[in-house]
Amino acid sequence: MAMIEIEGLTKRFGGVTAVDRLTLAVEAGEFLTLLGPSGCGKTTVLRMIAGLEVPDAGEIRIGGKTVFSATRGLFVSPGKRGVGLVFQSYALWPHMTVRQNVAFGLEIRKVEPARMQKDVSEALAYMHLEGMENRYPQQMSGGQQQRVALARMLVAGPEVFLMDEPLSNLDAKLRIEMRVEIKRLHREAKATTVYVTHDQTEALTLSSRVAVMEEGRLVQATPPREIYRRPANLFVADFIGSPTINLIPGKIVQKNGRTFFEGEALSLPTPALAAHVGAEVTAAVRPEEIRIETGESGDAVSGEVYAVLPAGSETIVQVRRKGRIFNVRVMGETSLNIGEIVCMQFIPEAVIFFQGDQGNRIDTGQE
Ligand SMILES: Nc1ncnc2c1ncn2[C@@H]1O[C@H](COP(=O)(O)OP(=O)(O)O)[C@@H](O)[C@H]1O
Ligand SMILES: [Mg+2]
Repeated sequence: MAMIEIEGLTKRFGGVTAVDRLTLAVEAGEFLTLLGPSGCGKTTVLRMIAGLEVPDAGEIRIGGKTVFSATRGLFVSPGKRGVGLVFQSYALWPHMTVRQNVAFGLEIRKVEPARMQKDVSEALAYMHLEGMENRYPQQMSGGQQQRVALARMLVAGPEVFLMDEPLSNLDAKLRIEMRVEIKRLHREAKATTVYVTHDQTEALTLSSRVAVMEEGRLVQATPPREIYRRPANLFVADFIGSPTINLIPGKIVQKNGRTFFEGEALSLPTPALAAHVGAEVTAAVRPEEIRIETGESGDAVSGEVYAVLPAGSETIVQVRRKGRIFNVRVMGETSLNIGEIVCMQFIPEAVIFFQGDQGNRIDTGQE
């Protein structure tokens, strides 16, 4: 297993800075996902690790060995970095059978034939491709082709797996199946993995850590639970979670010696924010952290049901209050109807706050 260390990595294309001074260490055996909107620089980072793109500045080390250094003018070619690549487009040879595609890398390396046969058969079996050895890629479904690409990566035994949106061309059901395969593959091969996706669910499901990028810069790299519960800033908070987190702008005020958040649609006691009295902030609450009931009650705030969106195991209820729509996640089904008056209960501890100007999360010392 090899650690990947990236320091001050920068790549420009003409006037565009695709990757901006990226510093990141991927632990040996880790599954790290680069997540962010289209164009934020994910593919460029992966291609620089692979050696398919020459950075403008910075340094990359794989397993302690420097494979790129701008200051030392050092560049190790892709074939000598010990990395395996899988792309969205599968990139299989159309004129080769499944077996030939998977064996190709080993043939180049002149692996002994008996050994090669055995390794290829094992990789094919591992990816559930038995019986398909003699088919050509165009005779297979997208999911099967991607399994071939994964088998090809596995058989070469690289220390590092690099995968760029490998599941994006597959339909929803197959994507979930293949997530399982990729997770198994990572566990089996124990290869350090950098995985690129714009799909947050995929990132949260697969990764030991998620690294969120915005416009070429790394915003936050942390385990999935942490990125969901303690996003570093408003960009991450808003990008992660479906439906999106509820954001309510307001101010921290003091009344009768107690500290409150005062937003136009919501007021909450916030004793942990006493040091921030007077500050403009944004309160953020996940849809599953709001309870709704019919009628009025104590410290709850009322609103009108704007939409009811059932999705089988859960229902998203949109509640309108003072011109603002709140997304509320309810387990299972609900008998609520559009136009009904409901009250929303906010658990103060579940609400997180961001600075009004920079949008950085305010650390209140609580989970
Ligand atoms: N070969 C290239 N030539 C010019 N611009 C590029 C090239 N590759 C990427 N870019 C630009 O760099 C930025 C980052 O691209 P990319 O790494 O592909 O993002 P992502 O994979 O996150 O969608 C984008 O603005 C993209 O247009
Ligand atoms: Mg990309």
